[in-house]
Amino acid sequence: MPRLISNTSRALVLAALLGAAAVPALAQAKPMVAPLSTRSDAKDIHSYAQPTIARVTHVDLDLTADFAGKKMVGTAALDLKLAPGAKEVVLDSKGLVIKSITNAKGQALKWTLGAADPHLGSPLTVTLDGAKRIVIAYESAPGGAALQWLSPSQTAGKAKPYLFSQGEATLNRTWIPTQDSPGIRQTWTARIVAPEGLKAVMSAEMLTPDGEPVAGGGRAYRFKMDKPVAPYLIAIAIGDLTFQPLGKRTGVYTEPSVMKATAWELADVEKMVEAAEALYGPYRWGRYDLLVLPPSFPFGGMENPRLTFATPTIIAGDRSLVSLVAHELAHSWSGNLVTNATWADFWLNEGFTVYFENRIMESLYGKDTAAMLADLGWTDLHEAIEEAGGMTGPDTRLHIDLTGRDPDDGMTDIPYEKGAAFLRTIEKEVGRAKWDAYLRGYFDRHAFQPQTAEGFIADLRANLFKGDKALEAKIDVQRWIYQPGLPENAVHIQSKAFEPVDAQAKAFAAGGPAPLDAWKGWGTSERVRFVGQLPRKLTPAQLASVDTAFGLSAQGNSEIRFAWLQLAIANRYEPAVSSLELFLTGQGRRKFVAPLFVSLWGQGDWGQPIAKRIYAQSRPLYHAVTRETVDKTVK
Ligand code: BES
Ligand code: ZN
Repeated sequence: MPRLISNTSRALVLAALLGAAAVPALAQAKPMVAPLSTRSDAKDIHSYAQPTIARVTHVDLDLTADFAGKKMVGTAALDLKLAPGAKEVVLDSKGLVIKSITNAKGQALKWTLGAADPHLGSPLTVTLDGAKRIVIAYESAPGGAALQWLSPSQTAGKAKPYLFSQGEATLNRTWIPTQDSPGIRQTWTARIVAPEGLKAVMSAEMLTPDGEPVAGGGRAYRFKMDKPVAPYLIAIAIGDLTFQPLGKRTGVYTEPSVMKATAWELADVEKMVEAAEALYGPYRWGRYDLLVLPPSFPFGGMENPRLTFATPTIIAGDRSLVSLVAHELAHSWSGNLVTNATWADFWLNEGFTVYFENRIMESLYGKDTAAMLADLGWTDLHEAIEEAGGMTGPDTRLHIDLTGRDPDDGMTDIPYEKGAAFLRTIEKEVGRAKWDAYLRGYFDRHAFQPQTAEGFIADLRANLFKGDKALEAKIDVQRWIYQPGLPENAVHIQSKAFEPVDAQAKAFAAGGPAPLDAWKGWGTSERVRFVGQLPRKLTPAQLASVDTAFGLSAQGNSEIRFAWLQLAIANRYEPAVSSLELFLTGQGRRKFVAPLFVSLWGQGDWGQPIAKRIYAQSRPLYHAVTRETVDKTVK
């Protein structure tokens, strides 16, 4: 990459680009351009952008969804903030088909696409000739990872096709040519042309709920996000969608045939927003809606601003899996308002969010419910530490080293659950009242800004520890963030409700009958705990007895079904294989799919042929995120 300006001028450039935000006198004024972090740990190794030289401030998309060609086609106009003397802007691209790049007057600009890195894609370097706005005519990457184009058979209605995107972590560069770095916040607008009969939704204000007719056919939908957001949060879906309000500023989009069950399941969403605000301050995004997607959506949920994307596997019929909504909603503060500056600090997004999610659950459903969820998280944490090589494994650190790696490598339960345990540990040391006041202030102080581990530590020192060295030493922040393993002071929330559950599991393992009465009285958390507590080796008779008594193979609750299938695979329990096959071909949530294939593969000559047979069927149904993970297992 040619160096555009000398190092000596970098400081000046930086000051210029930080703009109003760096000038104390103007600190009250809302910065037009969200500040960049100048901390040493804020350099994003997963983007080619050189934001201190030329930085995207606004993205304006004008795209047509071509379902036949499985591509988005049109233009992206980018507004730039330039350092004095800046001659080029560097964008991220992964497989984009660039047709032309012009300035605002339509005059052609020179551009080059650099060599492709398997994780990062290619730098797209545009010679500006003084332009502060550039217009890129392009098509999305053929087969690109962000977009999944579903055939009608992959939808609930089976009649119309469907498109959705997944941007986090670095996938949006396969359909949007911009600076794809979480520290480079951008406002954006979009005009999307969808085929007649399909509705487009995006993670932004929807300016045309019913669309506008387009001369050449189809309907145009317009969107506006006037708050600067990290580019991984730009998201789209197009399908046969209807909307139903849930509360005064909340609602849900989904396919018509599943709306009734979905709206019933999500009845508490408005209350969740109120609970979240009571904890950590105003919800700053206007509306909070959800989109419940077809079953191939690769995540439980994705916190796209104003429009959480969610898997249909949370529709359990008993509202027992709504903590996922609390989680994605919590990201409206931790993640979307205060955003990890780089993927090495993913825990700043997810650890804070798991902590906050649990506080929302406690507000709505009480301490016992929240404690069970937190305790299940503790079990997950220990499993994740084992998988990462035990207490000395380098990837058990919160701030991880992703040099030369895909950010996805860091996305284990460690940032989620160790991060949450860290915040619970601080809460315990300082007391809840003080901690809550601190956190509320933290979100205000860093609203619409990137954050790093160093930035968080500095903020703790300035606003929580305030010179109390003994307190700082007792918590041992450095160890928590930069060392592997789990510090001894880690707070483990132990659920009392699990004591009888564990006792039942023990009694059953020792030869007792399946505890049907107890099971009937349990909720999802206790049931998941029970199945998880059973020894990994049981007799076929024991497996058959719980399977029959509790209807495990036919479980509609995805968390219980998953826990059961893990147990069944560990025992090479043939009667559960058809249930496994249905589960793996019926949904594509990576959290369920990937571990089941790993377990199957671990079962050598019994499991591997089953894995191959099922994957041959299910692979074409999965989103690239899930496919790329399972491809590493099933060969
Ligand atoms: N932001 C994540 C999803 C994500 C993680 C996307 C990493 C891309 C890379 C989302 O908020 C999340 O954590 N989802 C969880 C559910 C949650 C309840 C723990 C999931 O999908 O399972
Ligand atoms: Zn999350």
